[in-house]
Amino acid sequence: MSKTIIANWKMNLSLNKSLILLEKILPALENNKNKIVICPDFASLGLSAIAVSGSKLFIGAQDCADSLEGSFTGEVSARVLREIGASYVILGHSERRIFQLENDALINKKIKTALGAGLKVILCLGENIKEKKAKLTKKVLQVQLKNALKGVDKKESRNILIAYEPVWAIGSGKALEAQEAGEIAEFLKSKSLDLIGRRLEILYGGSVSLNNASLFLKNKNISGLLLGGASLEAEKFISICSI
Ligand code: PGA
Repeated sequence: MSKTIIANWKMNLSLNKSLILLEKILPALENNKNKIVICPDFASLGLSAIAVSGSKLFIGAQDCADSLEGSFTGEVSARVLREIGASYVILGHSERRIFQLENDALINKKIKTALGAGLKVILCLGENIKEKKAKLTKKVLQVQLKNALKGVDKKESRNILIAYEPVWAIGSGKALEAQEAGEIAEFLKSKSLDLIGRRLEILYGGSVSLNNASLFLKNKNISGLLLGGASLEAEKFISICSI
C-alpha cells in the first residue's frame, strides 16, 4: 500500500548539498509507489522545486507565516511558498515549539493560513519526556490536536496529515516501539473523528532508521513516516522509500 514519506532536511544542508542530494535520489525514486515529500530550508526551496519538477516528488516547506502578506519582516508567506512550487508545509514541529516558542494558538493560525493558500499541512504533535514519564501522552496529544484544529472544518481537513513525533525520540536514536506508535495513531484517528468528523492520516516520526522503518510502515494505523536524520543520506533514504 502506498504511504507518505516526508524528508525534513531542517537546516542541515547547504544549497549545493541539497541539490546534489536531489540529483542522487530523483532517478532512484522515479517509479516509487510512495508519496515522497522533500522539505528543504526556505532558501533552497525554489531551486529544489525546479529540480523536482516533472518528477513524482513533492516539495514542502518547514514552516510558514500566520498571515498571507503584510509588514512582517523575515516571515515567509504560504502564498509565496505555493507560488515557488511547494505543495506541503510542516507546522508545529517540536523544534519550533521549543526554540521559536510557538504555541498552539499560533500553530492553529498558521494551519488555517496555509490551508487557505492551498498548501497541505503536516501537523506535528508529540509529548516530551517529562509528560511521557507522567503518563500524560494521550492527554497532551489530545489538547495539541484540539487546539490545532480549532475552527478547521471537515472539508478543509482533508488537506491535513498528522505527524506523531514524540519529542524525546527526535534525533535521539531511540524510536518509540512501532506497536505503541500504532496504538497512538489509532487514538489520534478517533480523536480527529470526534473533533472534525474525519479520521486523519497519521505518520510517525522520531529516530526512524533503515532498521526500524519497515515496522512502522507495516502498521495498519500508520500512513507514513517523517524522517529527519535518515533523509540526509541518499542511499539510506532511497532504501527506506523502497521498503
Ligand atoms: P529524526 O527527526 O528522524 O532525526 O529523529 C525527525 C524530525 O524531527 O522530524
